[in-house]
Amino acid sequence: MRDCRGLPISNADMQQIETLEAAHEAALSFMGTPVDDMAAMLKDNPKFIMGHCFVAGLLTQAMETRIYNNMVRHLEAAEALYNAANYRERGHIKAIRAWVDGDFHAAVEAWDAVLVDYPLDLLALQLAHLSDVLLGDTANQRDRIGRVFPNWGESVPGYGYVLGFYSFGLEENRDFSRAEEYGRQAVAMNQNDVYAIHAVAHVMEMQGRQAGGIAWMNGREGVWANSNFANHLWWHLSLYYLDLGKYDRVLEVYDDKLRSSGAGGEKYEELDSTALLWRLKLLDVDVGRRWADLADRWEPSAQDTLYAFNDVHAMMTFAADNRRDAIDVLINANERYLDDANDANVAMTRIIGIPFSRAIIGFCEGRYGDVVDLLLPIRYRTQYLGGSHAQRDIIAWTLLEAALRSRRFELALALANERTQLKPTSPQNWHLTARALRGRGDIAASERAEAHAQSATPA
Ligand SMILES: [Fe+2]
Repeated sequence: MRDCRGLPISNADMQQIETLEAAHEAALSFMGTPVDDMAAMLKDNPKFIMGHCFVAGLLTQAMETRIYNNMVRHLEAAEALYNAANYRERGHIKAIRAWVDGDFHAAVEAWDAVLVDYPLDLLALQLAHLSDVLLGDTANQRDRIGRVFPNWGESVPGYGYVLGFYSFGLEENRDFSRAEEYGRQAVAMNQNDVYAIHAVAHVMEMQGRQAGGIAWMNGREGVWANSNFANHLWWHLSLYYLDLGKYDRVLEVYDDKLRSSGAGGEKYEELDSTALLWRLKLLDVDVGRRWADLADRWEPSAQDTLYAFNDVHAMMTFAADNRRDAIDVLINANERYLDDANDANVAMTRIIGIPFSRAIIGFCEGRYGDVVDLLLPIRYRTQYLGGSHAQRDIIAWTLLEAALRSRRFELALALANERTQLKPTSPQNWHLTARALRGRGDIAASERAEAHAQSATPA
C-alpha cells in the first residue's frame, strides 16, 4: 500500500492509512489529540507499523518522563514487526530506538537517512526538524528542509507544513525576508497552520516589529489560541508587550492565559511561564506569588535530568522562590547524571545547563559578578541548549543585567551595543544601553539612548 504522498506502507489497509494521515494532519496543525487517537486505533490494529512509529516518534519530542513507558511500548511493538517492515519503516524504528537510548543525534541521522531516499516522508521531516530545534542544530533547521524542498510543491499534500518548517529554519538563520515570505504563504494556504503563524511571529520578534507582531497575533488569535501551541504563542505575544514596557498587559496575559492553562501539567507550558517571569525579574517587576505557584509545578520533576533546557527553567523557579532544598536536589541530580550518563543531553548539561543554573542561583542571591563570570565564556555556545534564539536570549539578557548590577559598565555597554545593533527598534535594548552609559558617567549619551527608546515606543 502507498500513502497520499506515494510512500510505501506495510501491514495496513487504506482505512488505517487514512486514519494515520488524519492524525498526522492534527499533529502538524497542533490540534486535537493525535497521539491518543492513534494509540486507540492501534489497540484494534496492533500490526500497523507506521502507526506505532507515529505515536512513539511524536512522543520523542515531549522530553518528559511521564510519557516514557508509552513511547517504549510503541517502539517495542514496532521492533517486534521489524521483519515485516520496509526500508523506510526500519529507518523510523532505528531513529526512535536511538532516541530512547539517549543518542538524540543518531536518531536525527536515521530520520535524515530516510529523507535521502524518501524526501516526501513528512513524518521523518517533521521529527528531524523538531529535533533540530530541541538540540539547537540551527543550520539544519534550515538545511534539512532545503535538502528536500525541491521535491515538494503545491500538488503534494502537506506542502504548506514544509513551508512552515522552512520559514522557521530560515528565521533562525536570520534570513528574515524569505522566512516571512514562506511563513505567510503557508498561512495563506492554510489559516490553521499554527507552526507557520509561529514562524512569522519569530520574524517579528527578531526584527523588533512589536506593533506588527501584536497585529499579526491578534488577527489570528482565533486559530492559535485554540491550538495545542497556544501557551507558547501567548508567550510570544507577551514578548512584544514586554519590549514596549507594557508590564500590566504582560501580567494580564500571564494570569489569564499562561498560568491558568497549565492544568495538563505539560512541560512546555511551564517553560513559557517561567521564561516570562524571569524576564520580568530582570526588569525588576514584582510578580508576587507567581514564582511560588510555578515552583510547585516544577518540583515533582526536579530530578528528571532528561533535558537541560527544562532543568534551567526549573532552576529559575526554585532560585527565584528561594527553595534551597529544591535547588540542591536539582544541582545534585545534574551532577550525578553527568557522572553516570552517556547521552546527548550530557553535553548540553555540562556546557550550558549547569553553568547557567549556577548563574541563576547567583543572580537570585545578588552575586552578580559571579553571574558575569559564569555566563561570559559560554554565551556563544548557548545554542547547544536547544530552543530558539528568542528563548535563549534570556541568557544574554541575564548576563547584561548582571554586568549592570555588578557595575561592570564597560562590559555592559559592549553587550548592550551588540543588542541595539541587532535590534535597533527595541526600547528595552536602548534602556539597557542608557543604564550602561549612565553607569560610566556619560549622562549626555545616556539621555540620547533614552531618546532612542522613546522614539521606538509608540505613544
Ligand atoms: Fe517560539
